[in-house]
Amino acid sequence: MAQRKILVTTALPYANGDIHLGHLVGYVQADIWVRFQRMQGHDCVHVCGDDTHGTPVMLKAESLGITPQQLIEKVHVAHKQDFADFNVDFDNFYTTHSDENRQLSELIFERLKQRGDIVVKTIKQAYDPSRNMFLPDRYVKGECPRCHAQDQYGDSCESCGATYSPTELINPVSAVSGATPIEKESEHFFFELKNYTDVLQEWTRAGHLQPQVKNKLDEWFEVGLREWDISRDAPYFGFEIPGAPGKFFYVWLDAPIGYMASFKDFCSQKPEYDFDEYWNKDSDVELYQFIGKDIIYFHSLFWPATLTGAGFRTPTAVFANGFLTIEGKKMSKSRGTFINARTYLEHLNPECLRYYFAAKLSSDIEDIDLSFEDFMLRVNADVVGKVVNIASRCAGFIRKRFDNTLSTVNLKPGLYQEFVDAGVSIGEHFDKREFSRAVREIMELADKANQYIDEMKPWQMAKEDGREQEVQGVCSVGINLFRVLMTYLKPVIPGIAADVEEFLDIAPMTWDNRTQPLLGHKINTFKPLITRIEQDSLDALTQAVKDQQSV
Ligand code: MSP
Ligand code: ZN
Repeated sequence: MAQRKILVTTALPYANGDIHLGHLVGYVQADIWVRFQRMQGHDCVHVCGDDTHGTPVMLKAESLGITPQQLIEKVHVAHKQDFADFNVDFDNFYTTHSDENRQLSELIFERLKQRGDIVVKTIKQAYDPSRNMFLPDRYVKGECPRCHAQDQYGDSCESCGATYSPTELINPVSAVSGATPIEKESEHFFFELKNYTDVLQEWTRAGHLQPQVKNKLDEWFEVGLREWDISRDAPYFGFEIPGAPGKFFYVWLDAPIGYMASFKDFCSQKPEYDFDEYWNKDSDVELYQFIGKDIIYFHSLFWPATLTGAGFRTPTAVFANGFLTIEGKKMSKSRGTFINARTYLEHLNPECLRYYFAAKLSSDIEDIDLSFEDFMLRVNADVVGKVVNIASRCAGFIRKRFDNTLSTVNLKPGLYQEFVDAGVSIGEHFDKREFSRAVREIMELADKANQYIDEMKPWQMAKEDGREQEVQGVCSVGINLFRVLMTYLKPVIPGIAADVEEFLDIAPMTWDNRTQPLLGHKINTFKPLITRIEQDSLDALTQAVKDQQSV
C-alpha cells in the first residue's frame, strides 16, 4: 500500500482551565486513530495547541493577579503534561499566542477584506461602565424575561431554555463588577458568511462530514447564514487588528488558524515538512480535524469559508465526537463528577480510560457514558482477565523450563493465521473510527486464545513425563497469539504495548510485522503489565474530586 500523507488536528483547548475527562474523549479518539495510521506505515502528523485568547483568559488572569501571558504559559505546561501522561502523542502542541498565528490571521483577514467579505457595522452592546469594557453575553446576568428565573446568563435561560439578547434581561448586572450595564455603540468587523452559501452547501454535501452533522447543517442553511462578528473592543487579550487601533480579532477567528500556526511551527523544526504542500488549495495531503460536537458550527461553516476565501485548502473531513457523561449525567462539580485529568492520574492508570473510551467510541456523534462500575468490570475483565492473562499463564513455563526461549515450531499455524487474518477487518474498523467494533473483535480473539490454553492445560502436561516440548509449544502459541492481540491493541493502550515490546524483546509492533510468529526467540522475564482496578481507587478518586470542590 502506498504511504499516505495525513495531517490530523484536534480542537485547541481553552487556556483558562484544566484538561478534564470530557476533553480527553476527543484527544484519545484522535490519538488512537493517528497511532493506528502510523502503525500502517503512513506519515501521520498530529498537531494541537492552546486556545489562548479572549475575555475568559483575560479575566481569569486578572483574578489570579497575573498577566494573561503568565497564565497561558502556566496552563501550557500543565496541558502538555496532562496529554503526555495520557499518552496523547502530539507532534506539536503549540499556542495561538504566537507570531505564526498572528501573521496567518492577518493574512487571512487581509485576503477576505480584499474579496469584499468584511463589512463594518455599528452595533449596540452591553457595557460595564465601572470597568470600561464591553461585556460578552455570558458576562451579563439577570432575570429571565420569560420565566423570571433569577441569575440567568445574557444569552439563554438554563431554567426554561429561552434565548434572548442581554438587553432583554430584567435587572441585568455585570458578572465582572456587579454594576448595571449600559448600552453602548461600537464599530465591529463582520465576515459575510452568506457570500459562501453555495460553496458551503456544496462542500457540506460532498462527504466531508458525518451524516448527522450534515443534517444539522441543512437546518442552518434553511435559517440562512448570518454575518459573523469577528472583532472585539479593547480591553481584550488577543491580536489587535491591523489598521484598527483598539479592535481585536475575536478569539474564534484566530483559534482555528492556530491549527495552521501549530503546523507551521512544526515545519520549522522538521524541514522535511513543507507548510505550503499541506495547506495550498490543491493539496493532496489528507487533512482530518477532530472536534467535539459543540463546535461544529465554527468548523463546518466559518472555518471552511474563511479558508476558501483566503485561498487555502479545506479539510478532507471534520470528525465530531459526542460528549462524555458520567453515570448518565452531564459532568457536574456538585455531584463530584467534574474530574480533571490530573486528579484521575493520581488514582488510576491512564491506559484504563483509553481502553474504556475505545470500547465505547464509534464514528457517530452520540454521547458516551462513563459509569465507574462498568469501567472497573470492563477493564478488569478484558484487559487484565482476557488479554494480559494469556501472557501471564504462559510466560512462567517458558521462563522456568526453557530459559525464556520460545519453541522453534509453530504448533498451531491455522489458529495463528486466523489471528493474523482478523487484522484486516480490525484495521478497517480502526480506520473508520469504529473503535468499539475493533475492540469487540479483538476480545473475541482473546477468548479463543484462552480457550486454546484451557483445552491444552499446559500446567497438567508439565506434570507428565516426556511432554516438555509440547508444553513449550503450547505456551509459545499462547505468547504468539498474545503478541498479535497486543499489536491490535497498541493504538489504544500504547503504554502497555511498549512494555510488551520490552517483555518480548521485539522491534516496535506494526500491522505488517504481526504476520510472522516468533520462533526460537528469547524473551525477557515477564513482569505484571497492569493491575486490576480496585473499588478503593475509584472511591479515592471520587473523594478527591469532592474535596477539590469544597476548597
Ligand atoms: N477552544 C475551543 C476550541 C477551539 S478549536 C479551534 C474549545 N475548547 S474547550 O476546551 O472547551 O474544548 C476542547 C475540546 O473538548 C472541544 O473539542 C470540545 O468539544 C471538547 N469537549 C469539552 N467538553 C467535553 C465533554 N464533556 N465531552 C466531550 N468533549 C468535550 O472548545
Ligand atoms: Zn427562563
